[in-house]
Amino acid sequence: MEKAAVIYGSHYGTTKQYAEWIAESLEVPVFEASKVSKKQLQEFEMIIFGGGLYASGIKGFKLLKEHSGKNLVLFTVGLADPQTTDYRPILTQNLSQQQLQNAKIFHLRGGIDYGQLSKIHRGMMAFKKKDAEKKREPSEEDRQFLATYNQQIDFTHRQAIEPLVDHVKKELKIHV
Ligand SMILES: Cc1cc2nc3c(=O)[nH]c(=O)nc-3n(C[C@H](O)[C@H](O)[C@H](O)COP(=O)(O)O)c2cc1C
Repeated sequence: MEKAAVIYGSHYGTTKQYAEWIAESLEVPVFEASKVSKKQLQEFEMIIFGGGLYASGIKGFKLLKEHSGKNLVLFTVGLADPQTTDYRPILTQNLSQQQLQNAKIFHLRGGIDYGQLSKIHRGMMAFKKKDAEKKREPSEEDRQFLATYNQQIDFTHRQAIEPLVDHVKKELKIHV
């Protein structure tokens, strides 16, 4: 059995970038979620799964639908600032009770280039903008979303993976 694998779901590459940095730091293989079968997951002692946040979903996470959450490290990648974001709604919507209890979860900040978005994603963001503008008391997340709407921003930075990498090294007792 191999120690660990990093698996990711990414539309525009920021989650993929984090997944590759993590895999490189831990010296473990990295796979795109759509190219891995549930059976293949059993070859690894630990799964480190990264998924981009898309409205109420975590891209690619359905691959782990039946996973117990034991030896699972999940990292989400979103535009919102992890310091001021409440992730409970998105987590309870996507993870089972068992996964919520067992998995170790990290939140990383990605980026966006509105010029690169698909038509559907552009439409979804336009809808979210209208919704945020209508709010009498917008949250910090809403304010930041509106301030960066239609721009190109990249918050990805390699140092952000360090707490996750340290956690995995400790769990697997590896020294790389
Ligand atoms: C349609 C759409 C919905 C999004 N929803 C969220 C969200 O709910 N929370 C968040 O933090 N970021 C959200 N984002 C931003 C993405 O999570 C961010 O761009 C992330 O870096 C994308 O990962 P990827 O490059 O791996 O696809 C959304 C982006 C799009 C286009």
